[in-house]
Amino acid sequence: MPLLDILQPPHPTLKRPAEPVAAVDDALLRLMDDMLVTMYEAPGIGLAAPQVDVGRRVVVIDTTEEKNQPIRLINPAVTWRSDERAIAEEGCLSLPGQFAEVKRPVAVTVSYLDEREAERVIEAEGLLARCLQHEIDHLDGILFTDHLSALKRNMILRRLAKQRRVKA
Ligand code: NI
Repeated sequence: MPLLDILQPPHPTLKRPAEPVAAVDDALLRLMDDMLVTMYEAPGIGLAAPQVDVGRRVVVIDTTEEKNQPIRLINPAVTWRSDERAIAEEGCLSLPGQFAEVKRPVAVTVSYLDEREAERVIEAEGLLARCLQHEIDHLDGILFTDHLSALKRNMILRRLAKQRRVKA
């Protein structure tokens, strides 16, 4: 299974809202498998389809230490958020080496279709809740930097651009 290229800002696909998936087919199943391999290899705990230049509402996540409980989410949506919020450091495979503290609801309920097109609900808190919100944001063209002040966001984007220049 091939590793997929992960986009970085300012690639336009990262900012574009993704389209809902109408039907699960072999190509979509393969995409999710490739996304998981790419995510584990990176290594990361979540990856959204727009990050690999696919504008569809698909996310893969595995927040376990053992890296053996992949979750494939199709058309995921947050249906409930806790009033309680918490601040924690986040990173993103599209912003390698960049981290910032982001305030988000501590717990969420997320509904989605699994890879067999069965309707599922996850009630999550802590790291999984944070990861779900971060990845679903990607489907709406939102990066974690969009939750920061313009000053912090621009600092991170400048550092990322500089990092790319050094590597090139
Ligand atoms: Ni991300």
